[in-house]
Amino acid sequence: MTEFKPLVFSGVQPTGNLHLGNYLGAIRKFVALQENNDCIYCVVDLHALTAQLVHEDMATQIRSITAAFLAAGIDPKKHIVFNQSQVPQHAELAWIFNCVARIGWMNRMTQFKDKAGKDREQASLGLYAYPSLMAADILVYRATHVPVGEDQKQHLELARDIAMKFNMDFAEKIRPTGLGIDIKVGDEPVHAYFPMVEPLIDGPAPRVMSLKDGTKKMSKSDPSDLSRINLMDDQDAISKKIRKAKTDPDALPSETEGLKGRPEADNLVGIFAALADKSKADVLSEFGGQQFSVFKPALIDLAVEVLAPINAEMRRLMEDPGHIDAVLRDGGERARTRAEKTMNEVRDIIGFVR
Ligand code: TYM
Repeated sequence: MTEFKPLVFSGVQPTGNLHLGNYLGAIRKFVALQENNDCIYCVVDLHALTAQLVHEDMATQIRSITAAFLAAGIDPKKHIVFNQSQVPQHAELAWIFNCVARIGWMNRMTQFKDKAGKDREQASLGLYAYPSLMAADILVYRATHVPVGEDQKQHLELARDIAMKFNMDFAEKIRPTGLGIDIKVGDEPVHAYFPMVEPLIDGPAPRVMSLKDGTKKMSKSDPSDLSRINLMDDQDAISKKIRKAKTDPDALPSETEGLKGRPEADNLVGIFAALADKSKADVLSEFGGQQFSVFKPALIDLAVEVLAPINAEMRRLMEDPGHIDAVLRDGGERARTRAEKTMNEVRDIIGFVR
């Protein structure tokens, strides 16, 4: 048995302001992973069309996510940073995956149900096929590891199902090309062209919740700006939002067990832990028994300490769009070379003449 060469891939949509959930659930992990891995980070602009077709500020949004990647510490020279539309192979593989994925699989996607809302007939076909494009984003590089927040878990399971079905259906065509490798999926030996992607979701804040309601995800689309900390928020805004964050009247517990049934406390402790690169247990051993009147100021200091330099660097980078575009062009070129290699192999496996 052999294994696929480890490769990290992830993407962020250029829609709305990035918030602390995007940072802790995704971008902070991207930065940590680049130390020991080959990484590809993508601004998924094609995905941004699925919920809303026309965006007045598309280019600014793409640059702003790129600026966040760079400001957070991603190195675009050692790794690849680019926007999805520069690599048409994503859309091409997505079409093939549209023919691999089954309608029944897509019907189970909870994010489609949430985003389409009541009037499903009016949702775009793109929104429905969204997870198929997401699978193509990853598999067009045959990437193996995908750091994301918990809300993307179901999409990554679908990516595994698509990879598995492609491998199985084309098994007899993959073998003679010599392009596949023997892997184990559970106990099952499979001759695979596409790897089974591993989601990287763990950490103290896989799902950062709204500051106003600990049972709702922190989200770009929440009408209340007080529900989230945006990466572009200044010190005063961060401080105000944490001070006003919903809590309960009790002191913090000394053990993580004590956070059960206290969603707001759990969320704030998770945020602290993720910002400090600690576990929730470590945070509670420091703050257990303390009131929120003590914990919140410490959280404000920590959030400002971590986010202010990122915020300042994002603003600096945004003043030089030419530089950001050059980074994306360079990344796009390198991504295209890799993606085209995969697509040529896929074309050969399927039997397209070229
Ligand atoms: P997007 O743009 O909605 O979010 C970007 C990343 O932020 C994470 N995230 C959160 N993590 C913790 N708590 C939260 N409240 C929170 N809100 C968002 C998301 O899980 C995500 O990791 N479908 C993806 C983009 C995508 C992609 C891909 C990701 C397209 N192709 C291929 C990985 C691989 C999305 O809409 O993320």
